[in-house]
Amino acid sequence: MILCVANQKGGVGKTTTAVNLSAGLARRGHKVLLVDLDIQGSATASLGIQVKEGDASVAECLTAERQIEHVLRETATPNLFLAPAGESLAAVDLQLASAMAREEVLTRCLETVTEKVDYIVIDTAPYLGLLTMNALVSSDHLIVPVCCEYLPILGLKLFTETLERIRTRMRVPCHVLGYLLTMYDRRERITAEVEAILRRKFGAEIFEHPIRVNTRHKASPSHRKTIYEFESSRGKGVVDYERLVTEVLQRLAAVATVETAADTFAQA
Ligand SMILES: Nc1ncnc2c1ncn2[C@@H]1O[C@H](COP(=O)(O)OP(=O)(O)O)[C@@H](O)[C@H]1O
Ligand SMILES: [Mg+2]
Repeated sequence: MILCVANQKGGVGKTTTAVNLSAGLARRGHKVLLVDLDIQGSATASLGIQVKEGDASVAECLTAERQIEHVLRETATPNLFLAPAGESLAAVDLQLASAMAREEVLTRCLETVTEKVDYIVIDTAPYLGLLTMNALVSSDHLIVPVCCEYLPILGLKLFTETLERIRTRMRVPCHVLGYLLTMYDRRERITAEVEAILRRKFGAEIFEHPIRVNTRHKASPSHRKTIYEFESSRGKGVVDYERLVTEVLQRLAAVATVETAADTFAQA
């Protein structure tokens, strides 16, 4: 099961969500691989993983078409593994341009590891280059964080149009599991406005519980910690990401039930 956290806008909570969703799933006993596909390597840094010169990373896997399985690193969270970004990832976007079936390189690199973990979560860069295309194409489901601090409508329109193009051109599902409201502050007027517009447009596609604005989400990455290691179990951030993990698992189970029913119907 491959989940991709994507939105071509930067600073909306993609990395925070990818890291803490992965950690939350791992803490429930699932084996999870977080793939850092952002050239800034923020997920790698916030988990306290260093990529030294000569260390293999996602970048080398993509350029040499090597299996991601070979670059896994353990993290401080049991069951959570990381495929680190690496400095050379910035050049990969260009190098991919000349690869065979260039939007499907990551899909091929993930082949062997998909059998070995329960969930793969991909953190993506804030632009729709080839790296992000590869992430979208390889994924079963997308989680789209939307920041409630400004009106995101134009950017989201562009993003959903891109998804539609990928679906028809590449014939991959690119299914949105849910839009996630982030930096949510009930007292702010802008939050209410963004929420009203999005709930009207996307309805039940929006996750029920938002991720509230919380300075601890800003502080935890610099301490190289997930929110679970940084806050108590009753902390606001832990509560929010726990709710998200529960809802993600519920939605995945619901999709699986519908798919099984469709298969049974097709065979009948
Ligand atoms: N719920 C939140 N409340 C407050 N700050 C947040 C929250 N989520 C993320 N942040 C902070 O906002 C900034 C952008 O978040 P990040 O997850 O890096 O976004 P992206 O990956 O989309 O660029 C970071 O400094 C992060 O620590
Ligand atoms: Mg990021």
